Amino acid sequence: MSYGNSRIPASAQRGVHEHLAERVRAHLISPFRKPFAEVNRAALDDALAGWDGHAPLILDAGCGVGHSTIELARSFPDHWVMGVDQSADRLQRRKPYPEALMPSNMVFVRADLVDFWRLLVVRGLRLARHYILYPNPWPKIGHLGRRWPAHSVFPAILQLGGVLECRSNWDVYIAEFAVALELALGSPVAWETFEAVRPLTPFERKYRDSGQTLYRLCVDLGSEPNAAIQYG
Ligand SMILES: C[S@@+](CC[C@H](N)C(=O)[O-])C[C@H]1O[C@@H](n2cnc3c(N)ncnc32)[C@H](O)[C@@H]1O
Repeated sequence: MSYGNSRIPASAQRGVHEHLAERVRAHLISPFRKPFAEVNRAALDDALAGWDGHAPLILDAGCGVGHSTIELARSFPDHWVMGVDQSADRLQRRKPYPEALMPSNMVFVRADLVDFWRLLVVRGLRLARHYILYPNPWPKIGHLGRRWPAHSVFPAILQLGGVLECRSNWDVYIAEFAVALELALGSPVAWETFEAVRPLTPFERKYRDSGQTLYRLCVDLGSEPNAAIQYG
């Protein structure tokens, strides 16, 4: 697929999945006990090695080539910004930024978010800001459980708190994210279309330049654990 001609995820699913609510409710009350991989524990240690223990934390979850991580580190110079992706190849492609020009308040680590999110929770850490920018849409109806709002790891995303922002070029993904949040928080969560005047990520730029509508939701999960949320 050439640049500027990318497509909106093709899916037979037209709206919020009929089984989303039952999945989310089940995840909110049943613990997710998948064992942690040692490599992800080591990745968390690496991610926190340069942190002073005080700076508010930002997670760029699924950062790809990391342009958004760099932008966030520049925008929030008093925060510690962690760009996490499972793809070593993408993480190594963070051109056109030479190492010398990298902000010093950020780190890139290769890890599986399914472990990384839960390991942050186990460490008792909370985020100030949390970005999930253009996550893989998994548009097939049968792939519901692979989308983050319907994944067993969703309660850990909530537990990390902070201002959570998700962006996608698939309205269904954002609508499902909002429904999952509403079920957990017990209050309405708005989402919207927006213009990416200054794209934050390469995917955002590509979708914008293809003339696609972009969607986002942003919700403040707070700095303290939310008593209304059950976490399993
Ligand atoms: C569509 S790309 C978006 C990348 C970037 N956020 C952007 O907007 O340019 C989704 C990214 O999520 C990463 N990803 C998907 N599942 C992941 C997981 N379980 N753990 C870590 N990264 C993951 C992929 O490797 C990929 O780089």
